[in-house]
Amino acid sequence: AFTSARARVQGAVKRFSTMFKNIILTGFMGVGKTSVGTQLAKDLAYTFVDTDTLIEADQNMAITAIFAKLGEPYFREVEAKIIQEVMGRENQVVSTGGGAVIRDENRAAFKKAGFVVCLTARPEVIFERIRHETHRPLLQTRDPRAKIKELLDGRAQFYAQADAVIDTSEKSVDAVISEIKERIRHAYC
Ligand code: S3P
Repeated sequence: AFTSARARVQGAVKRFSTMFKNIILTGFMGVGKTSVGTQLAKDLAYTFVDTDTLIEADQNMAITAIFAKLGEPYFREVEAKIIQEVMGRENQVVSTGGGAVIRDENRAAFKKAGFVVCLTARPEVIFERIRHETHRPLLQTRDPRAKIKELLDGRAQFYAQADAVIDTSEKSVDAVISEIKERIRHAYC
């Protein structure tokens, strides 16, 4: 009984220290990872890190150019490498690319590195937010609405594995941040 109590306490301590290491934002394109992440990092005095920005710096090329010249599989390799590097550091709010959750190794790295928050939004809201943008190669198609639905369907099971899932559809950045803090408090305290 003593050992199992001790194991429980050790487990709790481990989860508790993990959750303060980093906050990792996952979720589809256009759910607000960058807006929420930048503000949240400021609030917590954490470093804001955007994996797409690091990929672009690493390759010295915009995401669209990487997709066009080298292809999505190549992009996913670089993305996985960058994620391993970033997850080895602490005190960061990390905004991850919408497709990063597909790989098991990426999801495992997120969980080990901190508290994982998946931001979501209704497909219609996502469409409205991204319709005039051109920097997301996967949505440069004839029917972006259908593409959004298709990608969301394929990824739903992976997004759902976050420690908290928060719908941002009708919420301000501040409201989403309050909810993230609330969810962290409730998850462990
Ligand atoms: C992608 C999302 C993008 C970027 C790339 C692929 C995806 O990131 O990584 O265009 O597969 O959903 P954002 O979610 O930050 O737009």
